[in-house]
Amino acid sequence: MSLLIVGGAAAGVIYSGVYNVAATSDHWPITRWALQKTVHRSVERQASGIDVPPLGSEKQLLAGAVNFDAMCSSCHTPPGAQPSAAAQGMYPEPPELTHAAREKSPGEIFWVIKHGIKASGMPAWGASHSDDDLWAMTAFIAQLPDMTPADYRQMLQTAQASGIGHGAGGHHGESGDGHPAEDANGQDHGHNDGDEQAPGHRDGSAPHSDSGSRPHAHG
Ligand code: HEC
Repeated sequence: MSLLIVGGAAAGVIYSGVYNVAATSDHWPITRWALQKTVHRSVERQASGIDVPPLGSEKQLLAGAVNFDAMCSSCHTPPGAQPSAAAQGMYPEPPELTHAAREKSPGEIFWVIKHGIKASGMPAWGASHSDDDLWAMTAFIAQLPDMTPADYRQMLQTAQASGIGHGAGGHHGESGDGHPAEDANGQDHGHNDGDEQAPGHRDGSAPHSDSGSRPHAHG
């Protein structure tokens, strides 16, 4: 009987639309508790059988740093940086990972990276990356509690100098410049450069005017 009442109340909440799904609105405390507990216990359980390989060689840490910088730092603020606009606007906000490094086992961190977390914004990287790549990032994350911003910059520089690029599992050949294609540094779309206050948007012909800096190709 009481189960029926609880179930009915839950359905009532869902169908009424009163639960605000805006990322700008905090979860109700009970929802937050339930979600956090669910994630926490699920990760512990799923990761319990994972065999952790040796972690922490220099090469592995450098590869992990480069991959982290390329794929994770837009959400998980790296040492010495400020949270990105995207990170600040997400809910749950992607955590800075020092805390995870202290609280979670390497197996758990590896599992989260590989499989992601449903409906949170944390992607699964296992389909696109080898376990070696994921362990390298796991090893890197484990070092975060002792890493200064200068250490982090140094690691990226050393990696670049030694030709360790993004995807250092080996698919980028020997060329040495492993520039991450997807680094999210801020090109500012959506700026309005005030020189286009043209009154005539009426006929829908694309109003692109390249503000004239293009050299003449013929002439
Ligand atoms: C698009 C944003 C985004 C990207 C990119 C991203 N993450 Fe996450 N990540 C999140 C969010 C959001 C959470 C929190 C999920 C939650 O609280 O349930 C999270 C959680 C985690 C956690 C668990 C943290 C904890 O304290 O439990 C780890 C570890 C992690 N991410 C590692 C990574 C790594 C490594 C990468 C890059 C390969 C990465 N993430 C890329 C958004 C992102």
